[in-house]
Amino acid sequence: MKVLVTGGGGREHALAWRLSLGSSVSAVYVAPGNAGTALERNIHNVSIAVDDFPRLADFAHKEGIDLTIVGPEAPLVDGFADYFKERGLRCFGPSRAAAQLEGSKAFAKGFLQRHGIPTAASVTFTDLVAAKAHVHRHGLPIVIKADGLAAGKGVVAAHSLKEAEAALTAMLSGDAFGDAGRKVVVEEFLEGEESSFIALCDGRTALPLASSQDHKAAFDGDQGPNTGGMGAYSPAPVISAALHARIMARIVRPTLAGMAAEGAPYTGFLYVGLMVTPGGEAKVIEFNCRLGDPEAQPILMRLQSDLAAACCAALDEGLQGQSLAWDERTALGVVMAAGGYPGQYAKGHPITGLDIVQGRHCKVFHAGTQLTGDAVVSNGGRVLCVVGLGKTVTAAQGKAYAAVGDIDWRDVRYRSDIGYRAVAREKRL
Ligand code: AMP
Ligand code: GLY
Repeated sequence: MKVLVTGGGGREHALAWRLSLGSSVSAVYVAPGNAGTALERNIHNVSIAVDDFPRLADFAHKEGIDLTIVGPEAPLVDGFADYFKERGLRCFGPSRAAAQLEGSKAFAKGFLQRHGIPTAASVTFTDLVAAKAHVHRHGLPIVIKADGLAAGKGVVAAHSLKEAEAALTAMLSGDAFGDAGRKVVVEEFLEGEESSFIALCDGRTALPLASSQDHKAAFDGDQGPNTGGMGAYSPAPVISAALHARIMARIVRPTLAGMAAEGAPYTGFLYVGLMVTPGGEAKVIEFNCRLGDPEAQPILMRLQSDLAAACCAALDEGLQGQSLAWDERTALGVVMAAGGYPGQYAKGHPITGLDIVQGRHCKVFHAGTQLTGDAVVSNGGRVLCVVGLGKTVTAAQGKAYAAVGDIDWRDVRYRSDIGYRAVAREKRL
């Protein structure tokens, strides 16, 4: 079959690459893609933006695309899957109604409360005076979240009243995120270790992908501002087999059952951001309606099954009894970013060393890159995600960083401690 992936980041490079290795797949197209997808055999870039629904559907019809997979959340929240369905095309991703799990944090919190799924206690506000009074009563620390999509920047964990009030004022006035911030969720601060749990869903049945963990903070030791993610690894040792079973039983299955009962069955990748509390229980921090970035890169590095076939089975409501095969090894991905990211950064710097890395137990997924003639140049904040595979986390980390050391461009920046928690766990064993 022919498959179309929409998006142009590291997640989409990993998706397109893994799809292209499936025996059911004859060709993969990526719209718009990046230099990494342009350089892959069997993958073709198409110059159409992710939000141009009509042109993407026209292309899919003209090219005879059998399956479309959407990388980023915004088109799904805007009804991409519904639009493709209306145009008679098969798209693996949640409907607009189901994507509300990510599109509205107030919806997600209400949903979790209605169905008794473990999450931080919260209250939703549109009124500044009421929200401030709540914060004063509740005490610190406290977490304030813009309701709508805010490109990963809509969450403030406030450790002072001044910080909390400034966040509430900026969001509710519309100054910070426009309409996405005019409603806020104020919730209890959860202590613990974060982990990502992603499942492939067919509306009724969820097939879990391998667990993973990312590093959102910009600098070593999880310091500095939040980013889209500076690195990730799979599996996440914090998710024991027993906890995995409880997450499926108490969170993932009730979420699918709840969405179906509310008339919005969930089909697509469901990303559950979890906090594993010191007592070893998992609570939902957030839902995303797509794969994680950079979690997808190490996860898909380990997937051995035919991904397109699994997505088609999901579209046919046929996941019951299915399973996915995984490489037993750990995959660990290090994001190489532009100097200045997540603040201001320059683009257009030529990247060297990419060809040296080829052929090791390692794969370089491109994110913000562009082909200029034969040269690969930087074209975004997160530029590459270099993934190593190893028998242990320590070995995977060693492979990834050896490759990172061969790659260079002006002002490149990366964290030097991706996987440190898992490495420390491994050393204790
Ligand atoms: P979200 O966009 O909801 O994933 O939030 C972004 C980040 O804020 C999460 O990855 C956590 O690191 C942090 N966060 C969100 N909610 C909470 C919470 N209730 N307690 C502690 N940290 C949180
Ligand atoms: N890495 C976090 C996310 O994709 O939302």
